[in-house]
Amino acid sequence: MLTEQNLADMGLQATIVRHPLVQHKLTLMRRKEQSSSAFRALLREISWLLCFEVTRDLPLVPEHIETPVQGMDAPVLQGRKLAFISILRAGNGMLDGMLDVIPSARVGHVGLYRDPETLEAVEYYYKVPNHMEDRLIVVVDPMLATANSAISAVHRLKQGGAKDMRFVCLITAPEGIRAFNEAHPDVPIVTAAVDTKLNDHGYIVPGLGDAGDRIFGTK
Ligand code: PRP
Ligand code: URA
Repeated sequence: MLTEQNLADMGLQATIVRHPLVQHKLTLMRRKEQSSSAFRALLREISWLLCFEVTRDLPLVPEHIETPVQGMDAPVLQGRKLAFISILRAGNGMLDGMLDVIPSARVGHVGLYRDPETLEAVEYYYKVPNHMEDRLIVVVDPMLATANSAISAVHRLKQGGAKDMRFVCLITAPEGIRAFNEAHPDVPIVTAAVDTKLNDHGYIVPGLGDAGDRIFGTK
């Protein structure tokens, strides 16, 4: 697994969440014998921790409140409610955990699948909240491999008005970070791990296999 320093040496930019609980849970998820139900539960738990990282710098404003003892100016989140955008279908495995942490967030979905021959992203669904231009948009998908899916989703969201975006994944590889950094240098990547490379089928090595299939038990 690569470090942020390895990435910097390659001219790449991503935040790697090194928290021991994230790393331990990710190892449990990678195991090929892991059940779908355990895989889903672990993904949800890791997503809580990734959610804290990606929202670490949200702006706060003071609001005057009354406690039972006296009045005070206390911090509350500034601006419109943020929106989570799930890249279907595997993104939904992260969405649940994110919503556990921020239940009032708005939610959008971009339906994409990778054409197995060309590895290009094919869109089949798009539905997002209004006022995208005023919200922080957090795009979630466990895997950033070639980055074709994420690049296409973020491009579509920009067309829909989104300006302030972040991308959160579980595992990526240098090829995906490079492609995404080049296509969307304004969108930071937060990930739990950066693996070695992609194989000839565009799968992350060592990775965890097909995230959608492992979440939903479709293989
Ligand atoms: C997986 C994954 C990403 C995409 C990553 O989805 O969830 O969306 O592949 O690969 P890329 O970076 O090379 O585009 P998949 O196409 O398998 O669809 P699914 O979520 O419906 O299983
Ligand atoms: N999509 C996945 O689900 N896994 C990979 O390794 C690459 C793309």
